[in-house]
Amino acid sequence: MSAEPKDIRDVVRFLQQGADLGLGEIFLERLTRNEALMAVAEARSGAKTVGTGAAKHETGAAKHETAAGKHETAATAPREGECVEASVPDSDLMRLQYTELKTVAESCQRCRLAKGRTQVVFSDGNPQARLMVVGEAPGANEDRTGLPFVGQAGKFLDLLLAAVDLSREDSVYICNVLKCRPPGNRDPMADEIELCSPFLKRQIALVAPEVILAVGTFAAQLLTGSDRPLGKLRGSVYSYEGVPLVVTYHPAALLRNAGWTRSTWDDLQLLRQVMDGS
Ligand code: URA
Repeated sequence: MSAEPKDIRDVVRFLQQGADLGLGEIFLERLTRNEALMAVAEARSGAKTVGTGAAKHETGAAKHETAAGKHETAATAPREGECVEASVPDSDLMRLQYTELKTVAESCQRCRLAKGRTQVVFSDGNPQARLMVVGEAPGANEDRTGLPFVGQAGKFLDLLLAAVDLSREDSVYICNVLKCRPPGNRDPMADEIELCSPFLKRQIALVAPEVILAVGTFAAQLLTGSDRPLGKLRGSVYSYEGVPLVVTYHPAALLRNAGWTRSTWDDLQLLRQVMDGS
């Protein structure tokens, strides 16, 4: 169990019980229980404030002063190699609304990637889009800008989508399996995917796209629930929690292997057919 003070754990338990009973607002400044849970989560992870509608509320973490007059935070990012207990449990994530989910993701300390990131890369595009594209993980450009698929692979993805009359300006919402950059662009690790995927699961439920396009092996395997290689997975329409799902090669892989261009073209035609209902 954590070294966190018992009173914080009691507050969390109290809020959680109320939330489980379906109670909404609590005392003081019209915080909802989920907002209060987020404030506690952010205090635990060391963030200073949490936005709740119009107001910003100071968390406990921001108020503790050290002898040197510096802010003392309640928790620190996991050390290299370490993954930690989620400060906002998965069951609570599944109740959050879109901006709450994004706020919690932005201060997430669930895994070792929190330590090396510049910023959390939550999404780009239109949250009301018909199509949701799910990639693998942010790279250096994404980590710097906070937006997914902004590098070379991203530009190529935009071209591929444009070829079937889709764009992130209106018809596409884009995100990744992992919200933080793995060091040196290494592959995502299984525990990182497990800890991060509840954010994606809730994101999909909230965006409620008509169709999902998984690009690359990690997104395709996670969303199909299969460990078959991409070359064997592609070419079919799957269902992710009732949402039609098409899978294709990752644009970065396609840039390295032009031999997959024809298959990718076929996958995009399949996607278009699903979206057109034909
Ligand atoms: N590759 C991905 O899978 N996602 C990004 O955001 C960028 C590159």
